[in-house]
Amino acid sequence: MEKRQELYAGKAKSVYLTDDPDRLVLTFRDDTSAFDGKKKEALERKGMVNNRFNAFIMEKLQAAGIPTHFETLLSDTECVVKKLEMIPVECVVRNIAAGSLVKRLGVEEGQALTPPTFELFLKNDEKGDPMINESLAETFGWATPEQLAEMKALTFKVNAVLKQLFADGGMLLVDYKLEFGLFHGAIVLGDEFSPDGCRLWDAETREKLDKDRFRQGLGGVIEAYEEVGRRIGVKFS
Ligand code: C5P
Repeated sequence: MEKRQELYAGKAKSVYLTDDPDRLVLTFRDDTSAFDGKKKEALERKGMVNNRFNAFIMEKLQAAGIPTHFETLLSDTECVVKKLEMIPVECVVRNIAAGSLVKRLGVEEGQALTPPTFELFLKNDEKGDPMINESLAETFGWATPEQLAEMKALTFKVNAVLKQLFADGGMLLVDYKLEFGLFHGAIVLGDEFSPDGCRLWDAETREKLDKDRFRQGLGGVIEAYEEVGRRIGVKFS
């Protein structure tokens, strides 16, 4: 398989076409951004750490019966994925209150959420990824009710698998965001799963081990990502 021209450069990853119309190469860069790109920094080793972390998680999910776009690692910072037609909706599950939920509703950070919540956001940088719902997604054609139902079921299936995986490593999976796409009409998990797109706390001390370290200027960002990886068995180079 041959890597061809760049298709798209996101805030942390770049996407390349290949000689196979059904395959893309994802490149994980060291670039890190938060607050709709207002805070930006390159963090050494982040591309490698997130690429390997994501590959490990995607393989776990695939093994648990969740269809993902991930195919193989290509290098320290690249992997091969299926070319999806992305659905412009972000699915967020929360097990513990944090982040925008705390801001929006004034609930206490750290409060257990039973049952876990499910939220939809529109992928739209200009509008700051506004919260939406099934009705808006259907009316504006972002996703069909059937697709939304499947995305919701898969997002909760991911919760069952990953809550346990991180619990075994002494961590709490606080919340996470998933994105899906269509591969020849079937719903498939796309994008990435790394500490950039979820919240993970140490189960004992509740120390933050995810991108909130970057957002809040706590330092030790990549060290925390590597610590999470080590605890669940990810091999870094
Ligand atoms: O900001 P908020 O609390 O809504 O984020 C919920 C979860 O989704 C967090 O783990 C955050 O890192 C992730 N997220 C993301 N990309 C976004 C919005 C949220 O990865 N655009």
